[in-house]
Amino acid sequence: MKDFAGKVAFITGGGSGAGLGQAKVFSEAGCRVVIADIRQDHLDEAMAYFRGKKAEVYAIKLDLTDRKAYAAAADEVEKVFGSPPQLLLNTAGVNTFGPAEASTFEDYDWVLGVCLGGVINGMVTFVPRMIKAGKGGHIATVSSWGGFMGGATTAPYSAAKAAVNNLMESYYLALKPYGIGVSVLCPTGIKSNIGESTYTRPRHLDNTGYNVTDKTIEFMRKHYSYGVDPVDLAGILKRGIENEQLYVLPFTNAEQMLRDNFQRVLDFSTPEGCRRQDDLARQRAEQRGRGGDPYSTTDSGWGKARADLTWVNESARAKK
Ligand SMILES: NC(=O)c1ccc[n+]([C@@H]2O[C@H](COP(=O)([O-])OP(=O)(O)OC[C@H]3O[C@@H](n4cnc5c(N)ncnc54)[C@H](O)[C@@H]3O)[C@@H](O)[C@H]2O)c1
Repeated sequence: MKDFAGKVAFITGGGSGAGLGQAKVFSEAGCRVVIADIRQDHLDEAMAYFRGKKAEVYAIKLDLTDRKAYAAAADEVEKVFGSPPQLLLNTAGVNTFGPAEASTFEDYDWVLGVCLGGVINGMVTFVPRMIKAGKGGHIATVSSWGGFMGGATTAPYSAAKAAVNNLMESYYLALKPYGIGVSVLCPTGIKSNIGESTYTRPRHLDNTGYNVTDKTIEFMRKHYSYGVDPVDLAGILKRGIENEQLYVLPFTNAEQMLRDNFQRVLDFSTPEGCRRQDDLARQRAEQRGRGGDPYSTTDSGWGKARADLTWVNESARAKK
């Protein structure tokens, strides 16, 4: 897709961070933008930003894990704009971190429910409508560099993002004949509010195995006050969409990072390679001042288990 003028863009998570950056960039490019978000305060702040500007932006409060509500949102878009979107941006996501062995069913259900389930809901809701409308279009999903590898304290998030990369490959192939392009954006750090994710965690999924406190949320907020600016990131995504790229990798050394990553996969397929990867992990931890322990966490407790999960033994982990 090269011409965005007059196109309807539906952006999940459009009230904050990467999604709000996309709303700014694609409305500037001429799109009529729908921002869908679970947080009313994010929608209100975003709409306040656009008030008085030339942009045509419409807000829908939506929990994208709710399939009925998603279908109703799609109906509303067609009613308001006379057409399903030509540009679908699956951007909403949440994260929470802790040792894989501490993860509860609820940790998986929440993170996979939003980061993978929400994308699936977007695809199943909108793809048939986009095909039937016969106008072609483009779908881009925000994944993460974390989708290329697992992490000892990132299991649900990494699994969701890996699945999303794979899912977009399938749709890329399937939707080409319909003139619908597909991209997956894999950023590292974005300046955003994702550190507050836990505020939108549903009550029935609040049993986490991780240490989530006001202090860890504050630490996460600080952590995500650095990173790529959402508007710059949306500009990179726009160029990727214009170029019909499947993967959009928003960093300068992407080729080397991917080569190192595939070397990692090759290494893990031999005993010597596994030892090499262990050594590399130790060296990296050393460089980060973690005394050679790749699995230790910071003073904030970010990435630690809930204190009562006695089988998660931080000191045993450190000795291995
Ligand atoms: N922040 C980073 O460093 C980083 C790095 C790589 C990838 N990402 C990805 O970028 C995407 C955007 O996140 P962000 O960093 O801009 O965070 P953000 O929190 O600023 O924005 C995400 C938005 O999604 C909304 N949301 C959460 N759950 C939802 C639900 N169930 N239904 C509808 N909306 C929901 C939130 O309310 C929020 O407004 C996510 O997919 C995230 O995984 C973020």
